[in-house]
Amino acid sequence: GSARLAEILATRIDEYPDFPAPGVLFRDITPLLRDAGAFREIIAHWRAMVPAGVEYVVGTEARGFVLGAPLAYELGAGFIPVRKAGKLPGSPASLRYDLEYGSAEVQIPEGSLPAGARTLVVDDLLATGGTAAATIELTRSFGVELVGASFLIELEGLGGREKLPADVPVTTVWSIP
Ligand code: PRP
Ligand code: ADE
Repeated sequence: GSARLAEILATRIDEYPDFPAPGVLFRDITPLLRDAGAFREIIAHWRAMVPAGVEYVVGTEARGFVLGAPLAYELGAGFIPVRKAGKLPGSPASLRYDLEYGSAEVQIPEGSLPAGARTLVVDDLLATGGTAAATIELTRSFGVELVGASFLIELEGLGGREKLPADVPVTTVWSIP
C-alpha cells in the first residue's frame, strides 16, 4: 500500500549533501536497488502509474537503464537505451544539448523505434530537465507516439518539468518539493 511505498522512499533513498558538487543534494538509489522486496514494490507501483499500451520504454544511461528495463519487462514493452555519445555502433540518432555547464550528447540505436509506436521515456530522476528534454526530442525524431515521461524522483524546485514539451504527460513516483 501507500504506507509501504512511503516507507521505502524514506528509508531506501539516501541523501548526500554537496555531491558531486557544492550545493547539490544527491539522491542515491543504490539502497533501493539492493533491497529485493523494495525494488519489486517500486516497479509494481510504478507500472500502475504509466499510460496504457506502452510498446517501448526509452531509458537513459545509466540509472534509467536499471529502472527502465524492469519497468519495460513488467509492461511487456521493448527497452531502448539512450546512451552517452561514443557507445553505440552504426549510425545512431544523435542530439547535443546544453547542461548547466558545458554540453552533452545522447544517442539512440539507428532504426530502433518504429514510427507511431506508443513510447514512454523513463529515468530515475528529473532535476533541471536537460537530460529528459533531450531524450524526448531525440525519441520524437523517430516519429513515435510519445505517451509520456515518467520518473522515480522529481526535484520540483529545479523546474525540470517546465523544460519538457507541454503536451507530454509527466508522471512521478516521488515529487520532492
Ligand atoms: C542523472 C539522472 C538523470 C539526470 C537528471 O544522470 O540519472 O539522467 O542526471 O539531471 P537533469 O534533469 O538536470 O538533466 P547522470 O548524468 O548523473 O548519469 P548516471 O545515470 O549515469 O549516473
Ligand atoms: N541527477 C541530477 N541531480 C541529481 C541529484 N540531486 N541526485 C541524484 N541524481 C541527480
